[in-house]
Amino acid sequence: MIEIATDKARDQGVSNVTFLTADQFGDTAEHGPYDVVLALNLLHLLEDLPAALQSINGLLKPGGTFISKTVCKPGKGASFKFRMIKAVLPIMQFFGKAPYVNFMEIKELDDAMTSHGFKIIEAGDHPSPSRYIVAKKV
Ligand SMILES: C[S@@+](CC[C@H](N)C(=O)[O-])C[C@H]1O[C@@H](n2cnc3c(N)ncnc32)[C@H](O)[C@@H]1O
Repeated sequence: MIEIATDKARDQGVSNVTFLTADQFGDTAEHGPYDVVLALNLLHLLEDLPAALQSINGLLKPGGTFISKTVCKPGKGASFKFRMIKAVLPIMQFFGKAPYVNFMEIKELDDAMTSHGFKIIEAGDHPSPSRYIVAKKV
């Protein structure tokens, strides 16, 4: 991902960005606080969502923006693809071929955001069952 990002920046003549790998619970804090934190396809992979949200909140400047996209439990009429993934996932996890996945209800995720110091300013379910949220640190 770092290589792709570096190539894209170079190709577009962008020179005011730095890319690095870091653990959100570890060494990122020493580079912050940040204007924006993005967690794209991440929150559902973390075993301790409250700790993750607290950590992200701590990384942001006051009024900073948090943008996330999180796979959630689909409502009624889950797609065949999603049902297949859900059925096969435990087997893959058993053999160490898939990570931990926390399929939350959308409301559960929204509530977790608001109870960890964020105000949701925009949200949408696209593509379902992914929840996009733009939130401000309050
Ligand atoms: C499903 S991938 C999504 C990658 C990319 N954000 C995207 O949307 O294509 C999940 C990513 O989260 C990263 N990740 C998992 N736990 C993390 C943590 N504690 N801090 C930072 N990144 C983490 C993994 O290394 C992996 O790159």
